[in-house]
Amino acid sequence: MSEKIKLGIIGIGNMGSAHAKNIIAGKCPDFDLVAVADIKPQRLEWAKKELRSDINCFDDAEKMLDSGLINACMVCVPHYSHPKYAIACMKRGIHVMVEKPAGVYTKQVREMNDEAKKHPEVVYGMMFNQRTNCIYRKMRELVQSGKYGNIRRTNWIITDWYRPQCYYDSGDWRATWSGEGAAYC
Ligand SMILES: NC(=O)c1ccc[n+]([C@@H]2O[C@H](COP(=O)([O-])OP(=O)(O)OC[C@H]3O[C@@H](n4cnc5c(N)ncnc54)[C@H](O)[C@@H]3O)[C@@H](O)[C@H]2O)c1
Repeated sequence: MSEKIKLGIIGIGNMGSAHAKNIIAGKCPDFDLVAVADIKPQRLEWAKKELRSDINCFDDAEKMLDSGLINACMVCVPHYSHPKYAIACMKRGIHVMVEKPAGVYTKQVREMNDEAKKHPEVVYGMMFNQRTNCIYRKMRELVQSGKYGNIRRTNWIITDWYRPQCYYDSGDWRATWSGEGAAYC
């Protein structure tokens, strides 16, 4: 039997914990969740209590990346730090799956993609959660077909995705320019 991929998660908030629970439940049998990193002590306590008591907890993501415990990592922190930690993984030869969005501004995403090119041995993935939605698939097909020529600008307003105030209250970074910016999806 081949060895399982030793996974670490940076940011064990809403999304990180959802991924962690799925892995612990055996939904990704090739993975073993061995470590998590979060700057909030209460999230690390939650991980010990709710995930596995022997899970390795780090209060600093880079310490986890340097620990030698993991060979793959999911980046589940707020947007601005996605490229920073993806690059930190790549530089250490750690495979990385980055939560959407890729980043907040083009320059940082370009830097991340450029770093990825330097590490073909590292598997680098992005969690674009809407990519299989039939609406977005159709949009992609229309753009790629060239039917409407070279598209210069699009404007998409989502009207069927309601988020109540408690969603925004669940994280102080949400819907703020300093915490979320205008994400580059
Ligand atoms: N794929 C999807 O469907 C989906 C859904 C929701 C959110 N997301 C994305 O996931 C990311 C996280 O969203 P969330 O809802 O889980 O946010 P959250 O605020 O619930 O969780 C983020 C966690 O990261 C921790 N954190 C922040 N900075 C850190 C750092 N430097 N080092 C370590 N830990 C750090 C926070 O303490 C927090 O626990 C966002 O970029 C969001 O866009 C993806």
